[in-house]
Amino acid sequence: MRGAPYTHLKKSNKKLWGGRFSGGTANSVEAFTASIAVDARLYRHDIMGSIAHAKMLGKQRIIPVRDSRKIVRGLAAIQREITRGKFEFSLADEDIHMNIERRLTEKIGAAGGKLHTARSRNDQVALDMRLYLRDEVAAILASLATLQRELANAAKKYLDAIMPGYTHLQRAQPVLLSHHLLAYYDMFDRDRERYLGCLERINVLPLGSGALAGTTFPIDRVYLAKLLGFPRISKNSIDAVSDRDFLLEFLSVSSILFVHLSRLADELVLWSSQEFAFVELPDGYCTGSSMMPQKKNPDVPELIRGKTGRVFGHLHALLTIMKGLPLAYNRDLQEDKVPLFDSADTVKASVKIMGEIIRGLKVRRDRMLAAAQDGYLNATDLADYLVERGMPFRQAHEVSGKIVRLGISLGKRIEELSLTELRAFSNRIDNDIYDYLSAESVVARRRALGGTSRSNVARRLKELGV
Ligand code: ARG
Repeated sequence: MRGAPYTHLKKSNKKLWGGRFSGGTANSVEAFTASIAVDARLYRHDIMGSIAHAKMLGKQRIIPVRDSRKIVRGLAAIQREITRGKFEFSLADEDIHMNIERRLTEKIGAAGGKLHTARSRNDQVALDMRLYLRDEVAAILASLATLQRELANAAKKYLDAIMPGYTHLQRAQPVLLSHHLLAYYDMFDRDRERYLGCLERINVLPLGSGALAGTTFPIDRVYLAKLLGFPRISKNSIDAVSDRDFLLEFLSVSSILFVHLSRLADELVLWSSQEFAFVELPDGYCTGSSMMPQKKNPDVPELIRGKTGRVFGHLHALLTIMKGLPLAYNRDLQEDKVPLFDSADTVKASVKIMGEIIRGLKVRRDRMLAAAQDGYLNATDLADYLVERGMPFRQAHEVSGKIVRLGISLGKRIEELSLTELRAFSNRIDNDIYDYLSAESVVARRRALGGTSRSNVARRLKELGV
């Protein structure tokens, strides 16, 4: 849809539900209850659902086939009006459902008034949300796959680059950058699995549940499900109109995804700092400072990290909205839209831009390697060396620790100590220790399944087809 739909909101007074009322709605209430500014974006899905409903009503002879056809044509024309920005949205019509229904009657006359037969806005809005979210999840799955591809490509490009691996943000053991990047690949893989699981539960047809109790008309829900591509049909009308657990699940899954995104974002911020200087972010994805001419700020990863707050917050908002609601539909449920829409938008935008950053990332191998060589990251390997030569691990740990202490006092790395200095701690140490302790050998030896050895990572990349 071009432009904001509510830039030309029109006011009108006669309500589609006005029969029971003697006076008009207070202006303040009209503004307070209307959701059109938020839910107008559901228009395509609303029309898709209404077209299926009208076809079903015609097929079942609940309304004349002639009217059903008129309705379908009218709805298609309305969709064009909205897409072209020619549709006048009305605040008085509350939401997208009634805006479209009113316009339908304006366009095709009395037949328009038959569309809502055997339907309530309660099953209609539940349907719209499912149709909408189904598309959003499909889009998110595709962009997650792209981000994963970028990570795998970067891992391949920097397959041999060695970096310090951290625990407690203290240098721990050298690892391959590619292994580190593929850790995120696997996290995003699980995120995709979770979205796929979520999709199964989104993909259930609620239409035909009426306001809450079902309908007296001889509707055909199997036909509706077929038209709308739902593999499953809700079994309980009360459940179908009152639960939004599929939204909660989406927001939960999105929150977990954002845990992963924000950790990656945080590492990019850290790594691009002058203190680390492991990577350079592409210029196009950074901004300068209005005051300090030298600055190149990692705003994009910072914002991804920051947007995590919204997504977590939206999950919390919807949990709170749902908690303690009596069955079935309550107007509180209208408040599901802002959290859902904003989260879906935020997920899509963040995943996409993260992929672009990874693609443009420049890695400073020299800086990473230097950091991996400085800080006794091979001390575990010195202990392993002694174990291989018959020393119990606990004792080897002690010996290696003492050697590190000597190194620190002399300002030398382990491999800068002479053989005599080393052998003073254990005569099991020989000249081959120097090769053994190089960052390359340290990494290459971690061949056990899932470890950081080059052979493991190369095999994994092959599995991934890069
Ligand atoms: N705009 C409403 C929502 O989003 C549609 C359903 C209204 N139903 C009702 N009984 N007032 O929840």
